Amino acid sequence: MKISVIGVGYLGAVHAASMAELGHEVIGLDVDTERIQRLAAGQPPFHEPGFEEILRRGIETGNLRFTTDYADLADAEVHFLGLGTPQRADGMGADLSYLHAAVDSLLEVLPARAGQGTLVVGKSTVPAGTARALADRIEAVDGARLMWNPEFLREGFAVQDTIAPDRIVYGVRDEYAARAAGTEEPGRQVDRARAPEVALLDAVYARILETGVPRLVMGFETAELVKVSANAFLATKISFINAIAEICEATGADVTDISRAIGMDDRIGSKFLRAGVGFGGGCLPKDIRAFIASAEDLGVGEALGFLREVDELNERRRVHVVDIAREMLGGLEGRRITVLGAAFKPDSDDVRDSPALDVANQLQVAGADVVVTDPEALDNAARRAPHLRGVADLDDALTGADLVVLLTEWRQYRDLDPAAVASRVAAPRLIDGRNVLPLRAWREAGWEVRALGRP
Ligand code: UDX
Repeated sequence: MKISVIGVGYLGAVHAASMAELGHEVIGLDVDTERIQRLAAGQPPFHEPGFEEILRRGIETGNLRFTTDYADLADAEVHFLGLGTPQRADGMGADLSYLHAAVDSLLEVLPARAGQGTLVVGKSTVPAGTARALADRIEAVDGARLMWNPEFLREGFAVQDTIAPDRIVYGVRDEYAARAAGTEEPGRQVDRARAPEVALLDAVYARILETGVPRLVMGFETAELVKVSANAFLATKISFINAIAEICEATGADVTDISRAIGMDDRIGSKFLRAGVGFGGGCLPKDIRAFIASAEDLGVGEALGFLREVDELNERRRVHVVDIAREMLGGLEGRRITVLGAAFKPDSDDVRDSPALDVANQLQVAGADVVVTDPEALDNAARRAPHLRGVADLDDALTGADLVVLLTEWRQYRDLDPAAVASRVAAPRLIDGRNVLPLRAWREAGWEVRALGRP
């Protein structure tokens, strides 16, 4: 099928290459010329395992092309919207301007296929109500339909999550018509006349659906809310365990044992129960804030009051690390601190709302002499925080430190040999901000160690 992907940021670029991998003829569009040139040359603009391989394969087979010109999209049967919806500069809500601008441009080329059945599929994370408003504009073009198909991909697993997802969610204008067309019965061919948009997206995802991945059809607003509810739940789970970590610090208990023990109850589950410096990234923080803002706009702000606590608790973790550092060093002014990690999580070079970078910055502002190291994210860190000193070589970064603070749990930091590191630093002091190091081994090697929520 001929497919376009509009907006080739993290989500869009992975989606475009994955659709080419499924055998479709894909064209990716972005207004960022430099990004398009890099992608067209087979160079990934971010670090994502497996992405470079499918990008190059798509380009070599001719299935995957890139453009900055909407006119090149005119013959596509399906258009995916992969635009970013960042936090607004003036508040907590989502900035939908990229999405609206893309739809304005798309509306200029949609009439080229008037009457032939063209599907527009929104993948961006948006407040409930966005899809219905966009559908009114898009469906004014004869034969054009809109669906909302939220994306749940995790950075570091983006290709796998796109090609083999847990579930696929379809938001449609009229869920009753879609059900009547047979969308509820597994294996049944959807009646194309009654729900043409569902039949078309099923054809795009045929190879994924054949593997038995559940496909859930629901109304626009429900599909929009599925995505933000999922992220709100994950954020809440992390802040919950971090709240328990605060109690642990006041009582001498160990949050990692609590996490292990409660996680064995399968109603609770062990995932997303790792206490530490908290969550960051391009999604969880801004999505919960947009969710709060949208609930307030809807007049039901109290319903999500707890998410404010989730956000505040998460921010407090970062300040707490700075406080522990100050306590251990008896003041921060002029002290050499090495921060291990800049990315918001390992196996990523993404530093958006990264707890590690935020803590490094706060330490520096408080007068410390900070060195940040990271295996992949130093270039992005330098762009976002040019005042911070990045040192790529791990040994060099550790040399002369008065305090080492682990904030992103890269494998190479988890595997550090405490005795070897002790011989490099000025004083063996450590904060494990992710609760991943074998503390006993570090203490036995002479280190003064503090961890979050552990005695
Ligand atoms: C998240 C969602 O998981 C994904 O489904 C959605 O599509 C986008 O947002 P991602 O931003 O890639 O994905 O990161 P994720 O793996 O969810 O981690 C988010 C943050 O939470 C990271 O900073 C991570 O370090 C932190 N985290 C995660 C914890 O602090 N503790 C945990 O137990 C798990």
